[in-house]
Amino acid sequence: MKRVLFVCLGNICRSPMAEGLMRAYSQEQGVPLVVDSAATSAWEVGNPLHPGTAKILRQAGIDMSGMQARQIRLEDWQKYDYIIPMDHDNLTDLESSAPAGHKAKVATYLSVVPGKEAQDVPDPWYTGDFNETRDLLQAGLPYWLAKFRDEQE
Ligand code: 4NP
Repeated sequence: MKRVLFVCLGNICRSPMAEGLMRAYSQEQGVPLVVDSAATSAWEVGNPLHPGTAKILRQAGIDMSGMQARQIRLEDWQKYDYIIPMDHDNLTDLESSAPAGHKAKVATYLSVVPGKEAQDVPDPWYTGDFNETRDLLQAGLPYWLAKFRDEQE
């Protein structure tokens, strides 16, 4: 079973949204997967989902009301097969903190979406547009899941 960690700056908006949507999608598609999310920063550690993300997930029938933001830890690099940042700032942070030999498991979320490879998932903390973020995350779900399934040992 593949293990996947989504990463953003605060772990209250984008990466938990990706976590919830991917978990639901993989279950729907019958592909077993371990999914989690974490922050590059310590700013929101212990805090609940941003209400905008909670609303998007609720609308999708996903309850993550008990979730608390956390920062990425050293052991995550061992545990996860894929570490997927939401934007290129997160990518730079992760690449600079990756233990030797683990950089290859990092790729931005939209890097697998045809026509959007170089784009970032916009941060609704700043844009206020949680629907736009959800739509881009949804666009990536089938591409990532196909990859996880194809690369299953
Ligand atoms: P996220 O959004 O990285 O998608 O969770 C943010 C959450 C919090 C902050 C910035 C972005 N902040 O400045 O606290």
